Parts: sequence; structure tokens; C-alpha cells
Amino acid sequence: MRYFIGIDLGTSSVKSLLMSETGDVIGIAQREYDILKANTSWAEQDMDSLWLKTCETLQELTGKFKHNIAGIGYSGQMHGLVMLDRDNHLIRRAIIWADQRSGDEIEFISRVIPDYRNITFNSLSTGFLAASLIWVREHEPDNYSKIAHVMLPKDYIRFKMSGELGTDLSDASGTGIFDMQRRNWSTGMIRELELDPKIFVSVHDSCEIAGQLNQECSDLTGLPEGVNLVYGGGDTLVQTIGNGVTDLTKSLISNIGTASQLLCPVNQPLHDKEFRTNTFCHVVKNQWLLMGANLNGGVALKWLKNILEAPDYNYMTDLALQSEPGAKNLLFLPYLNGERTPYNDPEARGVFLGLSLVHSRKELIRSVMEGIIFSQRETLEIFSQIGLKFSRVIASGGGAKSEAFKSIIASTLKCEVLTNSITEQGCIGAAILAAVGTGAFSSIHEACNTIVKFDERVTYPVKDLTGRYDELFARFHRIYPATKGV
Ligand code: XUL
Repeated sequence: MRYFIGIDLGTSSVKSLLMSETGDVIGIAQREYDILKANTSWAEQDMDSLWLKTCETLQELTGKFKHNIAGIGYSGQMHGLVMLDRDNHLIRRAIIWADQRSGDEIEFISRVIPDYRNITFNSLSTGFLAASLIWVREHEPDNYSKIAHVMLPKDYIRFKMSGELGTDLSDASGTGIFDMQRRNWSTGMIRELELDPKIFVSVHDSCEIAGQLNQECSDLTGLPEGVNLVYGGGDTLVQTIGNGVTDLTKSLISNIGTASQLLCPVNQPLHDKEFRTNTFCHVVKNQWLLMGANLNGGVALKWLKNILEAPDYNYMTDLALQSEPGAKNLLFLPYLNGERTPYNDPEARGVFLGLSLVHSRKELIRSVMEGIIFSQRETLEIFSQIGLKFSRVIASGGGAKSEAFKSIIASTLKCEVLTNSITEQGCIGAAILAAVGTGAFSSIHEACNTIVKFDERVTYPVKDLTGRYDELFARFHRIYPATKGV
């Protein structure tokens, strides 16, 4: 029997999972870390600390299980900028996806490249590698002059494990300097922005073998030297594989992690004509992924949990289920940390609308959960305008564990909601990429059919609620334009 490891390098923690080729999860190890905020709008992480935490998870796995590991794959937080000098040393902390300092640089890039969105099929957002790189050039010229290579966070971990530099198509397409039709770096944009083309590492398929585990990593983790490592991919794309969505059926994925996304794979580079959603190259060959990205998923609930001094999320879910749907007309716009879909506005902020003396903590919790899902409904409306229709939603991430979230998703998105029997879809997707890349399966589709199993319980939309949620969403949709000027 062969075994595979999937490493999910997230924003709040790194998880490594050991899986057999039949999909049995043998073990999982996790280490948490923080986002470093030297400034309110900044979000950075120390990549060497993330590397050491990753080693700890691998050591924990191998310490317990002496299996024959045939391959390792990656799922990584997307968009962030990691910079290495000529000796392949880190130049500074990574500027990660949640960073919001680069508004001026985005304006600069759109002035220099008026056709920007028609090349990248995306709006440029703060926290994307291209905007952060121009910020470093403007504000930290010494650091900028040292840059020999730029890459995404998970690429640095793979580099430390193997010594090989490179990235994959899905993560490269989330940098904001990528030609989505040609599926490679945009040489034209690199030239127009006067960047050095040599700093952009080579781009590969997610299942391609990137290199072998080196001695340094072996010494730190106990894993044997020579294990094959595949390139892996961006977390939002890899978790669709861990969710078993490969066949372009009518499935949507509703993911609620720190951020939250509504996602669907497509077989052509479809995009919203106003570029309110993201289009990225998928980890499946010749597919793309359409995504509405909401920056305030679980983080909004965590914010409320801390304020209410609630013991845990089960307590929050229980209270939310005690509140009536619609939380006695309390609406919450969850833009605590700016928003990407549909407004791409790093300055956007949260709103509680309709607070009155009748509201207690259960309505506050319910309205925060409903606000998170109404943000996903914004994306669904855009997908409908593109002509896409769906009959089921796969709930994923931490949100999939909550009955309250699942029932709100079912009646707001008007689809049946399924969940996976294994909850760590990022790790499973990463392990699947390793299994396919090292020849255990002939395709991602085949691997998913063997490995991914759905839970038998399905949550259905409730007829009386769908109309109520239509009406509440219509009001929710008006809050941002109505309050922006204020
Ligand atoms: C996706 C995104 C986040 C990060 C962190 O576009 O910004 O989901 O990948 O997980």
C-alpha cells in the first residue's frame, strides 16, 4: 500500500495529513500561527517560522507512522509575496493575501496597463503579489534591489524541502501578473511595469513532480530523503479536488474558512464582464475556476465570538439555531476587513443594520452567519448572470461543521447541501495531487472517485424560508451602496 502526505499551508495554521491510496486518513498534525500586523492595513507572515511549524507537523506524522510515503503535495494560501535574494535567503516577511496597503499601487498599475483586466481576467486586489511587489519597489528600494526570485507562500515551503524553485499554474494565476488565456506570466505586463522577468519562477502543472525531499528536510522531519514532491496549488482550487468536484456538473462549493468563497470549475476561462469575481487556472489541466471571494468568513464569526466571550463555535451554532431566521430583521454587512466580491474595496467596513431592544446575542450571531452567506449569494447572482446554474452545494471548511451554516446556505442559495465525510479538504486535495503526480491514479477524476466520500446526511432548502431569504438578501444588497458615502 502506498501513502501520501498533503500539506495545507493556511493563513492561521499549517496542517499535514497522511493518507493511504484508498483514502484512509492515517494521521493529521496541525500547528497554529498568527498574522503579523505592524500597521492596521498590513498583513505579513514570517516564512521561516511557517517552515519550522510545517516541519513540526511532518515530524509528528512520521514519528507516529512508519509508512512508505510515495509523494507529498501542497495546498497553499494564495496571492502573497515571498521574496528571495541571490543566495535564496528570505529578504523580508511575506506580504500575504489579507494585506491592504497597496491601493495606490493598484491605481498605478491600472494607469500603466489600461487593458489590465482583459489580460488577467481579474480585478487587481490588494494583497495580490503584483501589487505588493510594486509597493516594495516604491517603499523599500533596498529590499527591492536584492530580489532574485518571487514566489507564493507554499512555493517557499516546497523550495525548502527540495531546493527547487518554481510555482504552479493556479497560484501563478492569482498573482495579478498572469496572462489567463496563455496560461503563463504576462511578459507584456512585466515589460510595461519595468519589472525584471528573471525574478518570476517557472510555472508548472500542479501534479508535476517538482523535486525530491532533501537532506535538510529529512534531518528536520525524519522523512526519508528522495520522496517525490509535486508542485501543488492554491488552497481554494485544491480544496475543490478534496471536495471531489471534478466533473463540471452542476455543483458549487461554499467554503467558509478565515475568508469565504463560492466556487465552480469551468472548462473555459469564463469571467464576469465587470470582473467582480475571480477567474484562476485550475489545478485540473485545461480547466479554470470561477470564484467569488469574500474576505470575511469565519474571521467575522471569530470576531463576534471574542467580543461575546463565547466558549466555542458549537455554542455559537446552538444560539444561532435558537434565533428565528432573519434574526428579527437584523442585517449584518460583514466587511470588517474590506471586501473583494462584488466591490473590490479594501476600505469597505462592516454594518449592523436594524439593531433594536429586541435583539440579544442569539440574533447577533445569527445575523453574522446570515451576512456571511448573503455575501456568497452576491456571487451566485453574478454566476447566474454568466449563465451558470447549480443544483447542489458542497459545504466545505470550518463552516461545513455547523448545522446553522448549512441550513442558511441551503435556503439562501436554494440548493441541497452536501458535506464530505472527511473535513480536511485542502490536505486531501493536496495528497490527491501527489498521488496522481506519482502515478497512483491516471487522473484527478479517478483519484477523487476512489478517495472522496460524501456524508449521507443532506440539508435541503426549506420552502417557507427561501422567500424570506430572498427578501432579506434584497435588503442586504442595498446596504453597501447606501452607506458607502456615509
Ligand atoms: C483566495 C484567498 C484566500 C487565501 C487564503 O483568493 O484570497 O482564500 O487563499 O486562504
